[in-house]
Amino acid sequence: MKQIKHVIDTELFDKKLLDLLFDRADYFADSLASPDSRKQISKLLDGKMVFAVFFEPSTRTRLSFTAAAQHLGAQVITAENARETSSATKGETLEDTIKVLCGYKPDAIVMRHNQTGGAATAATVSNIPIINAGDGSGEHPTQSLLDLYTIHKELGRITDLNVVIGGDLANGRTARSLSRILARFPGNKLTFVAPASLQMGDDIKQYLTQNNVEFTETEDLESALPTADVVYWTRVQKERIIGDLPKGTFIIDLPQIKLMQDHAILMHPLPRVDEITPAVDSTPQAAHFRQAENGLYARMALLEWILK
Ligand code: NCD
Repeated sequence: MKQIKHVIDTELFDKKLLDLLFDRADYFADSLASPDSRKQISKLLDGKMVFAVFFEPSTRTRLSFTAAAQHLGAQVITAENARETSSATKGETLEDTIKVLCGYKPDAIVMRHNQTGGAATAATVSNIPIINAGDGSGEHPTQSLLDLYTIHKELGRITDLNVVIGGDLANGRTARSLSRILARFPGNKLTFVAPASLQMGDDIKQYLTQNNVEFTETEDLESALPTADVVYWTRVQKERIIGDLPKGTFIIDLPQIKLMQDHAILMHPLPRVDEITPAVDSTPQAAHFRQAENGLYARMALLEWILK
C-alpha cells in the first residue's frame, strides 16, 4: 500500500527531502518572477484539490498555502475560523470532521488546530495527507521548512550554526519545530533566550540531549547576540497564557542589531507585536519579510511533492 504523506512534525524532513524541496522552492521563486514561466508552472497540479481547514487564526500560513496551491493549478477550498463556524461548535469530534472531509475527495488537507496533537489525531483517521499548519503549542513543521529554507538561502548552509531562539519558547510552536529540525544537522548550537517562565519545554530539551545537540538557556539577550549566525525571535503567545503575562520579555531594536555580526540574520515567523521594532526592518540583518515570502515557495515545493 502506498504510504500517505502526512506532515505532522519535522521528522520527515531529512537531508534528501530538504535538498529536493529547496531546489524546487528556488525553481518556483524564479518561475514566479516572469509571466511566461509563471504560466508554465500553473498546470503542474491541475485537477488536484486542497482543503485548508483552520481552527485558529492565520494570515501567512493559510494564504501562502492557498496561493501556493493555486499558482500550481490546484483548487483550494477553505474553512476559516472553523472553531467558531464548523460543526465543532455543535460538539463534533475532530475525528468525525476529518472522516467526513476525506469523503469529499480532496488530495490534501492543510489543517491548523487549537489542540496540541490535533494533526496527529486527524492523521489516525485520514486516508488523505494531513499537513499540520500548527497544532496548539505543539508543532508547526511547514514553518520550520520555510525557516530552514530561509537560513539555507541567506547563509548558504544549515549546519555549524549558532542559533539564538528567543521569546515565548514555552508556548510557541515555531520555536519548538525549528529546534527539532536544526537538531538533525551537524554542528548546530542553540541558545534559548527567555524569562524562566517562558523557557523551552523539557520534551524539546530531552530531544536535543538525546541527539547530542549543544544548547544553553539564558535570560541575557545581549550576551547571546554577538556570536549568533541566526537570531530567531518570537512573540508572547498571549492567547495561550492563562493569568498574568510574564514580565521581562525582550525587545530587539537598533542597539541589539548593532551587537549582531554583519553576516548574521534576524528572523521571526510573524506576526510580530512589539518584540521587534519597525526601525530594525531596514537593517541588513532583518530577514523576516524575506522569510515570510519564502513560505510561498517552500509550500509550493511541499504541495508538489505531496500531490504528484
Ligand atoms: C506563527 C504560528 O501560528 O504559530 N505564525 C505563523 O504561522 N507564521 C507564530 C505566531 O502565531 O506567533
